[in-house]
Amino acid sequence: MPRRLAEPPRPAACYALTVPGLEQIAAQEIQESLSAEIKRIGPGLIVFRPPQVSRDVLALRTVEDVFLLLWGTDRLTYRAEDLDLIQRWTAKEPNWPEALRTLRQIRPRPKGRPTVHLVTQMRGEHGYRRADAAKAFAKGLAGKLPESWWLVDENADYEIWLTIAGKSAVCGLRLSDRTMRHREYKQEHLPASLRPVVAAAMVRLARIPYHGSLLDPMCGAGTILAERLSVQRRALVLGGDIDHTALLAAKANLKSVGPAFLARWDARRLPIRDACIDRIACNPPFGIQLGDPFEIADLYRAVVREMDRVLVAEGKAVLLVSDVSALEQAARLVHWKPMARVRVRLLGQPSYITVWSKGTSA
Ligand SMILES: C[S@@+](CC[C@H](N)C(=O)[O-])C[C@H]1O[C@@H](n2cnc3c(N)ncnc32)[C@H](O)[C@@H]1O
Repeated sequence: MPRRLAEPPRPAACYALTVPGLEQIAAQEIQESLSAEIKRIGPGLIVFRPPQVSRDVLALRTVEDVFLLLWGTDRLTYRAEDLDLIQRWTAKEPNWPEALRTLRQIRPRPKGRPTVHLVTQMRGEHGYRRADAAKAFAKGLAGKLPESWWLVDENADYEIWLTIAGKSAVCGLRLSDRTMRHREYKQEHLPASLRPVVAAAMVRLARIPYHGSLLDPMCGAGTILAERLSVQRRALVLGGDIDHTALLAAKANLKSVGPAFLARWDARRLPIRDACIDRIACNPPFGIQLGDPFEIADLYRAVVREMDRVLVAEGKAVLLVSDVSALEQAARLVHWKPMARVRVRLLGQPSYITVWSKGTSA
């Protein structure tokens, strides 16, 4: 029999989904803020066991969704026999009364008859279709959910997910809703705007001192600054952009999270005095966004030189780029030291969150 992730699967285990590449950063946040034990890390997935499952899981910033683990495996066979296992585990493994009790503590009981939606995701080549897995999953759930629950196709009060990726699968009750992934502050979107979890990961990597300042000199819709203010409302944050529309979006998005200094400027000539900024976090335009990849190296050189000028001696910069060699060349010119690099896939292309230290104290 395939080995299960949690033996025996207890409802107190959870799993979180994040952008592939951010697993270690998310696991660290989960450990630190929930005192949880990390059970397993897979692509875009962290299985963890908090001392108790509470609404605190919804305050995590580097994950996009959190689920109560019903069952999990890393021993699928890719063959049709998986379908029997999916049905059997869904029916037998979860402690349903306990799972539903936990769900109600976290998601308030809806007015009227609760609706539920079943989600089946499948990645990788399997000897069965996603629709077959969905059918086996639904069969396993037969008679397990309260009779008053009503199965719908969208906008449900509750969701139960089965996610199959290669030989692994997790099945869970979704504890989060869309606001965890999209954030309530994000009213205005720009095409090049960052996914909030990526911005949150950059803020974590910046390790900003409590009274430290954070600058995003090309702030777009302000996602990075919003993530900083979301964890510390009175933090000192400064941002700017060359584009007026981007600044309006940043203003709208930051309104609900906290005060920020925002200005229209050219990041190659910042109206900021020398050596007064503790941290910079920024994602400059990618080559494809500028239209001409050759312009990128010039832009990075000019912007990094200006960042170096405004950073304090022990300052650090967290920069998300796609063309990492153009950034490395620019960083070499100002003698920045590389501290970390995290690969993530954004806008369909590999990108890197890079951490740099201006001073010698890496
Ligand atoms: C990839 S976007 C930043 C997205 C932002 N992090 C967000 O989440 O919305 C890059 C931004 O750099 C701005 N930009 C490009 N060249 C600039 C320059 N020379 N000075 C300031 N901003 C610039 C663009 O207008 C754009 O808003």
